Amino acid sequence: MQTPRLEIRNLVRRFEGRRVVDDVSLTIQPGHVTCLLGPSGCGKSTTLRMIAGVDMQDEGEIHVDGTLICDTVFRIPPERRQIGLMFQDFALFPHLSVGDNVAFGLKGSKAEKRKRAGELLERVGLSHYIDEFPHQLSGGEQQRVALARALAPRPKIMLMDEPFSGLDNRLRDGIRDETLALLKEEGASVLLVTHEPEEAMRMADEIALMRDGRIVQRGAPYNIYNNPADKAAVAFFSDINVLRGEVQGALTQTPFGQFLAPGVPDGGQVDIVFRPQHVSIDFDRNGRGPNPTELAGTPARGVVERARFMGSESLVEFRMDFNDEVLKVTVPNVFIPKPGTPMWLTVRRNRCFVFPVKG
Ligand SMILES: Nc1ncnc2c1ncn2[C@@H]1O[C@H](COP(=O)(O)OP(=O)(O)O)[C@@H](O)[C@H]1O
Ligand SMILES: [Mg+2]
Repeated sequence: MQTPRLEIRNLVRRFEGRRVVDDVSLTIQPGHVTCLLGPSGCGKSTTLRMIAGVDMQDEGEIHVDGTLICDTVFRIPPERRQIGLMFQDFALFPHLSVGDNVAFGLKGSKAEKRKRAGELLERVGLSHYIDEFPHQLSGGEQQRVALARALAPRPKIMLMDEPFSGLDNRLRDGIRDETLALLKEEGASVLLVTHEPEEAMRMADEIALMRDGRIVQRGAPYNIYNNPADKAAVAFFSDINVLRGEVQGALTQTPFGQFLAPGVPDGGQVDIVFRPQHVSIDFDRNGRGPNPTELAGTPARGVVERARFMGSESLVEFRMDFNDEVLKVTVPNVFIPKPGTPMWLTVRRNRCFVFPVKG
């Protein structure tokens, strides 16, 4: 096993007695991009600030390349950690030229600094702006200068805190992809904080899902999406549908057929959770739906309540006959049936998650 570039162990940070970061451990391998993903206020920025050295943990240790850089008594100052930082409000120095902004953290002769700055500006496609001033650049261009500035001193680790959230939507995808390409080229290990699942899916080699100060799950984007730890982890990435069922003999019966609930005692409750894109729709034929199959289970009837076109897909809401509750279904392209139309739904059984109900 390779020595991780960054390893944090059992980090705790308390504010006013509350454990805002609550026993967080995390490793990042050299050259990897890890996204710390979680809702606002869950402790992402606080974690990043401790790694950067601008805040101090109450418990726990931080190691870089196997060497301790910070625990509760020993502490290497931020400027000697070889860690680059990029935040949403990445202020460039307005009175310095673009080239001097990028060269700001560099050591060496003036010529050497300008050479490295020029090299990075070239990489982000802005070398012609080297002698201009930040206010002459667009928001997206300033962002790229900030990235060049952060990467210029060849940091071992880049910490990025919601770096794209200030950009408008149309720019964002392009800048994310460019940024990722440059980070990979430079071989930086990256910890990127975001509350947007799409951003994490797009950027990350590994996602660490954070909630209430804790890491609830870690893994490749594919695994987190398809093998989520709990109901909230499913809901963080998409709309969800939930059916509650009672367990008898490790099985629960639902209108869509039975589901396995291994390890749940008789009388225990489970939530069967599935995404709107994993429901199929069939037309009603004289009060009958399609035949049950092993993969799709049993069809259940509902009536269209509302249908909306969303661009690349349509969202249809059904009021189900069996419990009078609404299930959400998404369908590629345009599908806008009239409200009141009866239809039959089946769920992709291998895309359903069964979670025991706690408490
Ligand atoms: N210096 C501070 N003093 C008191 N509470 C703080 C301080 N910094 C952050 N918090 C609180 O800690 C929690 C986590 O904050 P933060 O790490 O910024 O979350 P995130 O970046 O995930 O949105 C929030 O409830 C926030 O109000
Ligand atoms: Mg934050």
